[in-house]
Amino acid sequence: MIVRYFEPQDFEEVMEIESEAFEEHNPFLYMNFYEMNNDCFLVADQNGYVTGFVAGYQTSENEGRVFSLAVRNGFRGFGIGTRLLEAINGIFNEKALRYASLEVRLSNKKAQRLYQKMGFIPCWIEHGYYSDGEDGLIMKKSLPPSINTSAGRRPARSFRHAGGSSLRIKNSI
Ligand SMILES: CC(C)(COP(=O)(O)OP(=O)(O)OC[C@H]1O[C@@H](n2cnc3c(N)ncnc32)[C@H](O)[C@@H]1OP(=O)(O)O)[C@@H](O)C(=O)NCCC(=O)NCCS
Repeated sequence: MIVRYFEPQDFEEVMEIESEAFEEHNPFLYMNFYEMNNDCFLVADQNGYVTGFVAGYQTSENEGRVFSLAVRNGFRGFGIGTRLLEAINGIFNEKALRYASLEVRLSNKKAQRLYQKMGFIPCWIEHGYYSDGEDGLIMKKSLPPSINTSAGRRPARSFRHAGGSSLRIKNSI
């Protein structure tokens, strides 16, 4: 499995995964992500089959936001979510950002466990954050000091994930 940048031909598969994972859908949002934040839009690719995605963006000079993370049904529990999160944190780190943040439904304990395992700390609750009225939990993580000297560029890169094996990020350019 590799983690690589989202490409337009992945759109249908990403929308399939998004539909089964979330109650609220907004396909246009993901095309906007591709157009505006394509270096923070990644997919997990298993021999050409997209099994998960993560989309984020830079909210301020210091902070990156994980906007959406989902893994295909049947592929959950195998570490794909962890690898996607590691990869986007790596990109935030390359951009020399100091914090990563995200929001998660208060009831989504599975995702909260993943985020806590990855070093995100529960910070505060946004009441009625979601359109169905559910509260959102805001979580944040400090990123290690960056050794990057070319923030904003998009070099070929490879990450090492917690398991120790190489996590390859394939450039789409
Ligand atoms: C949340 C989600 C992205 C996790 O992806 P994943 O590939 O299954 O996650 P991983 O296999 O990397 O598991 C990472 C951690 O998540 C937690 N986790 C995963 N599956 C779990 C389960 N069935 N029950 C409890 N915790 C679970 C565990 O802490 C796990 O770490 P561990 O294996 O060391 O115990 C996936 O379940 C998903 O797509 N859910 C629907 C969409 C969603 O909720 N997205 C997050 C919105 S904020």
